Amino acid sequence: MMRLDKLLAHCGYGTRKEVKEFIRKGYVLVNGEVIRNDDFKVDEINDEIIIADEDVAYERMIYLMLNKPDGYVSATFDNYDPTVIDLIAGYENRNLFPVGRLDKDTVGLLLITNDGKLAHKLLSPKSHVDKTYYLKYEGKFMEVHHQLFKDGVVLDDGYKCMPAEFIDLGNNEGKIIIKEGKYHQVKRMMEAIGCRVTYLRRISFGTLNIDESLNEGDYRPLTKEELEELIGIN
Ligand code: URA
Repeated sequence: MMRLDKLLAHCGYGTRKEVKEFIRKGYVLVNGEVIRNDDFKVDEINDEIIIADEDVAYERMIYLMLNKPDGYVSATFDNYDPTVIDLIAGYENRNLFPVGRLDKDTVGLLLITNDGKLAHKLLSPKSHVDKTYYLKYEGKFMEVHHQLFKDGVVLDDGYKCMPAEFIDLGNNEGKIIIKEGKYHQVKRMMEAIGCRVTYLRRISFGTLNIDESLNEGDYRPLTKEELEELIGIN
């Protein structure tokens, strides 16, 4: 539970003073009832909060789909390189962070949010969220490697990966579906069978698929349906 004025200010509806003013004027409804005292406690997950006819249920947390370009690090701050958060404008002071990491040279789908709970759930090793990557590689992916991927490839440090699937697209291109997110995982899995990844693009993360209309560097809020599906994982 949290104070109504605090929640609305956190959601970007104004300063604490401004949102108190909205509340006193009767612009804010909680579960259909006008609430005029700013210290009213709300359940930020379950209560329906409407401010001047706008449902804030999905606004209080930010969920953005970014098509990550090459050259950006998946962090909120870096001493040397630009970060994926540097690409996001208009959400200042909202504590956004990327959900998981893509390598600096990996492109494609990256979820940016300030919802720590959801991020934790999606990244938890127990969640086994499917991630699909499109890749180009040098070397030869052989028939026998399909089974090896299914059984669990052993990486250079001895770690045995969870079962993964490789879809051969011919021309040294493929798709790979993995359920975990170890450091450089796809590159190392390919190295384990004597191949070298030359291009890597994430195209899906759990139920979320890259919006092909987003150019690299562009982002957009998740739709309500995308968010509901993602929250519904597990
Ligand atoms: N696997 C990699 O090797 N790199 C990424 O960025 C993501 C998965």
